[in-house]
Amino acid sequence: MDNVFTVSIDGPMALDGNLTLERTGTEPLHTTETVYLCRCGHSGTKPFCDGSHAREGFGDPGEVAGTSPGCDESETALHVTVRPNGPLLVKGNFAIKDASGSVRWEGTKTALCRCGHSENKPFCDGAHRAANFEAE
Ligand code: FES
Repeated sequence: MDNVFTVSIDGPMALDGNLTLERTGTEPLHTTETVYLCRCGHSGTKPFCDGSHAREGFGDPGEVAGTSPGCDESETALHVTVRPNGPLLVKGNFAIKDASGSVRWEGTKTALCRCGHSENKPFCDGAHRAANFEAE
C-alpha cells in the first residue's frame, strides 16, 4: 500500500504517499514526503501539526475502529480535500494504521477528523458542527 495514514497516541497523523492536498485559497500541495496532520484542532498551521496537541492536552489512544471497505487496485494517487471548518476528505487507495503500526483499515474514501471532538477518531462523526470548530 503506497498511501498510509498512521495515527499516533495523543498526537497527529502521519501521512506517507503520493499526495495532493487541496484547501481553499491556496495552491494544491503535491508531495511524496511525509506530512503530519493536526488531529487536535489547535494547530496554528492547520491542516499541519505544529505541536499544539501537547500544550492543549489532546488525548487519544491511537486506535482505529470500524469496518474496512477494502481498496480498489486501479487507484494509486491520494487526494485530500481540507473542508472549511470540517474534516479531511480523503479519496484514493489508502490504509490507516493504528499507533502500534498495524493496518486497521483500508479503503478508497473517508472523512478524517481534524477538530479533535469525534468519538470515532480518526474518522469524522460530525461532532465538528456541535463544537463550532473554526479552522480558518
Ligand atoms: S472534523 Fe472532527 S468530528 Fe468532523
